[in-house]
Amino acid sequence: MSRGPADRGEAVPQTDPELFHVDQDAVAADATTRADGATATLDRSAHLAGAQTALLRCDELVAGYVPGVNILNGCDLFVNEGELVGIIGPNGAGKSTLLKAMFGLVTVRGGKVTLRGEDITGLKAHALVRKGVGFVPQTENVFPSLTIEENLQMGVYQDPRRFRERFEFVAGLFPALADRRRQRAGSLSGGERQMVAMGRALMMEPSVIFLDEPSAGLSPALQDEVFIRVRHINRAGVSVVMVEQNARRCLQICDRGYVLDQGRNAYTASGADLANDPKVVELYLGTLAKAR
Ligand SMILES: Nc1ncnc2c1ncn2[C@@H]1O[C@H](COP(=O)(O)OP(=O)(O)OP(=O)(O)O)[C@@H](O)[C@H]1O
Ligand SMILES: [Mg+2]
Repeated sequence: MSRGPADRGEAVPQTDPELFHVDQDAVAADATTRADGATATLDRSAHLAGAQTALLRCDELVAGYVPGVNILNGCDLFVNEGELVGIIGPNGAGKSTLLKAMFGLVTVRGGKVTLRGEDITGLKAHALVRKGVGFVPQTENVFPSLTIEENLQMGVYQDPRRFRERFEFVAGLFPALADRRRQRAGSLSGGERQMVAMGRALMMEPSVIFLDEPSAGLSPALQDEVFIRVRHINRAGVSVVMVEQNARRCLQICDRGYVLDQGRNAYTASGADLANDPKVVELYLGTLAKAR
C-alpha cells in the first residue's frame, strides 16, 4: 500500500502558503474531463492498433521480484506523444512494478518495452534517462540533505552543462523552487518535495515521465495542486504516465487510463469513459460510486 510521510511516522512540515498557493479557480477549471474515446475494453487488438504510432509502449510485459513469482502477467500499455496516461487499480495490483519494469528497476522476464520503435527492454535507469525517459518514484524521491538546487543538479548529473538552461525551464513550471533554491529538500513539506522530485525528473528534458502516485500523502487541496502541475508539465510537451490512488481525480485529468488488476490490464479507455463505466465504477471506484 502506498504511504505518505505521515503514515511512515515522519513529521510532515507545514506547507508555506506562499510557496504552495492553491488557486481554487484553476482547480475548478482543471476539473473538466478531457478526451472522449472508445468504451472500456479488454480487447488486445485495440492496443495493437493504438500502439502502432506510440511514443512508448510495452507489450505483454512479465516481471517480478522473487524467482518464480510474476507480479506483472502480460501488461500492455502505450503512451502517445503529448499524452497524459493514467494507471489506476487496487493496492498490490502491480502499478508501481509496471513503472519500475519500464524504467529498468525490476527484471523483465517476458514482453517488450519500446521507445520510438527502439527496444529499450531491460535498459538501466541512467541509459533511459539519456534517451529521454524520466521517473519519479512513489517514495524517497528527493535527497533530503541536499538543497533544492542541488537536487535539480542531480537530475542533470549526466550532462551538467545543461543545468542553467534546464533550471530556467523547471523554474518556469515551479517558480517557487527557484525562489527557495538554497533550502534543504528535507525541510520541505510533502507537496513541495513532490515539486522538487518532478523538477529533478524534468532536468534531462524527458519526452516522457513516469509519476508514481504524485498526490500520495497530501491534503486534498495539495493533491489538486499536484494534478494541476502535472497538467502543466504535460502541456509543456512532456508525455506523462501517472499511477494514482486518487482514481477519480486521475481519470478526470488523463487522456486515457488503464485499470490494472493482479498484474494484468483489466480495462482501458479514455479517462472520461473509464470514470463513467458502470463496471469500473463498481469494481474500482467504490468511493466514487458511493458519492454518486
Ligand atoms: N521489492 C519487492 N520485493 C518483492 N515483492 C514486491 C516488491 N515490491 C512489491 N512487491 C509485491 O509486488 C506486488 C505488487 O506491488 P506494487 O508495489 O507494484 O503494487 P501497487 O499496485 O503499486 O500497489 P500500491 O497501490 O499499494 O502502491 C505486491 O504483491 C507486492 O507485495
Ligand atoms: Mg504503488
